[in-house]
Amino acid sequence: MAKALIVYATRTGTTKRIADSIAEGVRSVGVDAEVVDVKNIKSEADLQGYDAYAFGSATYHGEIMQPMKTMLFMAEKANLEGKTGGAFGAYGWSGEAPERIYDTMRNIFSMDMAGNFLKLKSPGLTLATLKVAQDYGLEISQKVKAK
Ligand SMILES: Cc1cc2nc3c(=O)[nH]c(=O)nc-3n(C[C@H](O)[C@H](O)[C@H](O)COP(=O)(O)O)c2cc1C
Repeated sequence: MAKALIVYATRTGTTKRIADSIAEGVRSVGVDAEVVDVKNIKSEADLQGYDAYAFGSATYHGEIMQPMKTMLFMAEKANLEGKTGGAFGAYGWSGEAPERIYDTMRNIFSMDMAGNFLKLKSPGLTLATLKVAQDYGLEISQKVKAK
């Protein structure tokens, strides 16, 4: 079975909720999904063996959260070229992090990215907005299955 790894960085849990919803979308078409806190990715080995990767971070002070930045430097050495990718995150008003993660995955890791990154505004995350995250997971898994 194809497998997706969804890694999130969060301070107050909103980006984890988005990660969980993406995973639901991924699983809905029979692709396995693991959701992991970025703090539990300790080495490149933890990134091996998946067909798709979605990396997410909330935006603080216009930036990706530091643990996700550290993981991206690690992922540079994990040979993710050609793997399916997506990027996501919760934000309040500007939401730079998802786009920066997306651009890194595309330009540095040479991954096969979903059509866009996903950023969801909070507060106010509802079941309806989380459906958008499920759909994003669906898009990622459909790209995997098309290979
Ligand atoms: C100190 C502080 C700085 C923040 N800076 C930004 C920012 O620069 N841009 C933005 O869009 N949101 C900003 N936010 C809002 C968070 O991104 C938003 O609350 C998000 O939902 C947090 O996600 P999390 O629950 O995954 O940590 C900031 C929030 C705090 C408390």
